Order: sequence, then C-alpha cells, then structure tokens
Amino acid sequence: MAAARLAQAGVDSPRADAELIAAHLHGVSRGQLHLVADTDFNPRFWDDIARREAREPLQHITGLAYFRYLELAVGPGVFVPRPETEVMTGWAVDQLAAMDVAEPVVADLGTGSGAIALAVAQEVPRARVHAVEADPLARQWTERNIAAVAAAAPHTVGRLTLHAGDFATTLTELDGAVDLVISNPPYIPVGSWVPPEVGEYDPATALWSGADGLGAVRVVESVARRLLRPGGLVAVEHGAQQGPAVYWVFAEESGWRQTRNHTDLAGRDRFVTAVWPAPG
Ligand SMILES: C[S@@+](CC[C@H](N)C(=O)[O-])C[C@H]1O[C@@H](n2cnc3c(N)ncnc32)[C@H](O)[C@@H]1O
Repeated sequence: MAAARLAQAGVDSPRADAELIAAHLHGVSRGQLHLVADTDFNPRFWDDIARREAREPLQHITGLAYFRYLELAVGPGVFVPRPETEVMTGWAVDQLAAMDVAEPVVADLGTGSGAIALAVAQEVPRARVHAVEADPLARQWTERNIAAVAAAAPHTVGRLTLHAGDFATTLTELDGAVDLVISNPPYIPVGSWVPPEVGEYDPATALWSGADGLGAVRVVESVARRLLRPGGLVAVEHGAQQGPAVYWVFAEESGWRQTRNHTDLAGRDRFVTAVWPAPG
C-alpha cells in the first residue's frame, strides 16, 4: 500500500523507497525488514511515506546519503550527493593513486556536503584536499560531515581544509601548485524542468548556471588553468546533454591536452577530464 501511494505520486522507485524508509525507521537493513515484528512496527512510517508522497527526497527523510564509503548527513540547505558523482570521484582516486607525487594537492570546487573532498581524503590518505564552498548554509553540512568523519577516523580529515568563499577567487595561495582540480558545479540551464525532489529541495546555488547551464563550468575551467601545475589534471561533471559543449570548454585549442568525455553508470555523458600541459 505504501509503495502504491508512492507510485501514484510519481516517485521513480516506489517499492525501494518505501522499504528504505521502513528499514531506516526500524534500524535494520532492507533485507532484514521481514524480521521486524508487527508489534514493533513504528507508526511514524506513515508520516514518512506522506513526506515522500509529497516528493520530499528520500535522503531528507532519512537524513542520510551514501557516497562511496561514506555515510553523509544531508537535509535542507545542501545538495544531495548523487551516484553519478561517485564515478567521477573514482576516476580522481585512481589518478591520484597512480600519481608519482608524495602528497598530491587536490581542490574540490563547490563541495556541498563534502562528498567528493571527504571521499578523496578517505581513499587517498596521502592527498592534501582543499574544499571550497560559497554557501554558508551548505557549509554547515560540510562542517558537520567533516566532524563526523574526524570523530570516527581522525587521520582521514587531518589533511582536509574547508575554505569559505567563491571558487572563482579563493585558493590563490595554491596557484600553479594543485595536482588535481575536481568539481561538480551547478550546470542546469535556467528555466529547465527538474523533478520536485530537485527543484524544491536542492539549493538553487547548486543547480542553476545561466541560459546554457555552462556558466560555472567555464569558471571552473579558468580556475583550473590558474591552480594546476604543469601536468595537473581536471575533472568536471556536467549534464547528460552537455558532453560535447564541455569538451569544447576544455579544448586543445585553448591549451588543454588529452581532453576526454566520460560516462556515468547509466552510460550517459557525465564528466570531462583534461590535462594542463607541461611546457615544451
Ligand atoms: C551541484 S552541488 C555539488 C556538491 C558536491 N560537490 C556534490 O557533488 O555532491 C554544487 C555546489 O557548488 C556550490 N557553488 C556554486 N557556485 C559556487 C561558487 N562560485 N563558489 C563556491 N561554491 C559554489 C553550491 O553552493 C553547491 O554546494
């Protein structure tokens, strides 16, 4: 009945969402739901189903988002990290693991919950990670997630620094010294249709970026040019239809090398990577 209500409301994965809400509420995994006795059933379940029926994101109802090996706190004021971004983060982790640099310097532009920065810090312990976020409300969530990871594993965040401000103008002290710039910037063209879970709950500063959606991507390109050392790498996420356009933002004609389009788990264009060339 709960799944039917969610389906009727237009939720994409009604059965999974109903089960995940029940599992979270009863403190069990989805596969253990059959172990919850009828007498232990928590009636708050129906309140949570009503919230999801009103298209509040599942992650706001549970207060949690899973990202690579992390469990992140999320809620009003911060962008819910997406599985697509896990693929780009995995690419960055692999590149950093193979990099012949003792302590690679990483910049995460627009960190939101801290998903990318924390995952890199956790998975590449020798990296020094700099995370930038302009939105003070989002930064409260970044700080909360950094503190939670620090409490569980202090060594993970020992080399992570959160910077408040606009990524267009911050981190100038690292100009020419960064090994990898990574960003999931806002990239939705203003006026596009988005589902209610996105439009009504993700912060506007995390979503919209000019008429073609590429305003922030262009800023990331100019910041990466400034920050990267010769031979440094950039990875930037974009919308499924923006692969060719973002490729040209990082075109060889404008100085970049080895520009590549990459797909997400669904096979859609999702991020572009490029190398800032070494002289000669
Ligand atoms: C799409 S969200 C991505 C958040 C997180 N990196 C992730 O992948 O889940 C974009 C983030 O960039 C931040 N942002 C947008 N423009 C910015 C700017 N010019 N300077 C700093 N942060 C910015 C937004 O506030 C938002 O938190």
